[in-house]
Amino acid sequence: MNYCVFALLISVSSAAEIWNLQQLDDAKKAKDKNIILRDIQVPAGKALELQGLPNGTSITFAGRITFGYKEWKGPLVIIKGHNFHVEGKPGHVIDGEGHRWWDGLGGNGGKIKPCMIYVQLTHSKVKNIKVKNSPAHCWAINACRHVIFEGIVVDDTDGHAKGGHNTDGFDIARSHHVKIKNSWVNNQDDCLALNSGTFITFENNTCEGGHGIAVAVGGYSENVAKHVNIRNCKVIKNNIGIRVKTLLNGKGIVKDINFDNVELKDISQTGIVIIGNYLNSGPRGEPTGDLPIQDLTINNVRGNVLRNGTNIQVWVKNGSNWKWNSQVVGGTKKLPCQGVPKGVNIQCG
Ligand SMILES: *[C@@H]1O[C@H](CO)[C@@H](O)[C@H](O)[C@H]1NC(C)=O
Ligand SMILES: *[C@@H]1O[C@H](CO)[C@@H](O)[C@H](O)[C@H]1NC(C)=O
Ligand SMILES: *[C@@H]1O[C@H](CO)[C@@H](O)[C@H](O)[C@H]1NC(C)=O
Ligand SMILES: *[C@@H]1O[C@H](CO)[C@@H](O)[C@H](O)[C@H]1NC(C)=O
Repeated sequence: MNYCVFALLISVSSAAEIWNLQQLDDAKKAKDKNIILRDIQVPAGKALELQGLPNGTSITFAGRITFGYKEWKGPLVIIKGHNFHVEGKPGHVIDGEGHRWWDGLGGNGGKIKPCMIYVQLTHSKVKNIKVKNSPAHCWAINACRHVIFEGIVVDDTDGHAKGGHNTDGFDIARSHHVKIKNSWVNNQDDCLALNSGTFITFENNTCEGGHGIAVAVGGYSENVAKHVNIRNCKVIKNNIGIRVKTLLNGKGIVKDINFDNVELKDISQTGIVIIGNYLNSGPRGEPTGDLPIQDLTINNVRGNVLRNGTNIQVWVKNGSNWKWNSQVVGGTKKLPCQGVPKGVNIQCG
């Protein structure tokens, strides 16, 4: 190989190794486009700020990333930019060591708990990242466009015994063209909570231990969720399987939501929930119809609910154009379905 090609290969593959926040600042000043974050111990009350980096930056996590303890809102990590490639090396972990904050109360009181990772990216890819024991919500995906999350692991398994609560896997708001695939979540709240956005795909993911896959709209600055595809997923040992919940007295719209080929296993409370009167963790009062659920397809959603649970619960107003094909069995607690659009046949019990 001639020398020029060799030099080019060296310069392409050279990356700044970063071991602390000072070196990260230096890399930002130097406009490094290829950084490796290795074994960083982020000081208490500070965020690992992956912003102010050039378009096209490649970020690699390596080793164990940890954070000092402080009661604050976080986030512990901020990733903001354009055309980023964010990836984890095999064996790396971003460890929130959430047990230091967990007190069983989550966001409802007790210690102030930092959320884990705030993401605001455009035209980017986030791949093979492992996050462990987030103190509170894990991935806050906000104002993203054209971003793929692939091979993400959220392992808050320890939270079941140690008081983890409100440890959502993925929260999505104000985002468009976002795909999350081939990922695994074990936590103590929603696996996915989609609050607003369009063209959102959640595909080939496994959710364990938490509160299921949710389209949850209403009461935010944006209250529109459209063109959502949730397919080829598994929901195992959650209290809820899948749900669409819109806020009681909310305004907005939920439209073109498709659940296809979702397998439920050992759901403790309710297999499928579609409600228009969500408030304080349950249905409350009469839905009003100003936040209607339109063009909803439930196809091949199947599996079992534990004996004391409910297979399907529907309580909406003003829904339209639903298609429904589910086989959810095992629950013996019957709840009536209310407001099901005409012509839709649901085995509610
Ligand atoms: C970075 O990307 C953004 C979004 O496309 C663009 O507006 C901006 O001009 C780019 N910056 C540079 C320095 O190219
Ligand atoms: C689904 O995701 C798993 C990882 O959780 C992966 O091993 C598998 O290849 C994926 N399947 C497809 C069809 O992409
Ligand atoms: C039902 O939804 C439509 C479409 O968003 C809206 O125009 C209408 O006002 C709603 N009706 C009721 C009774 O809420
Ligand atoms: C189911 O409900 C019955 C009656 O309330 C109760 O005795 C039983 O312990 C429950 N079983 C489970 C597995 O929760």
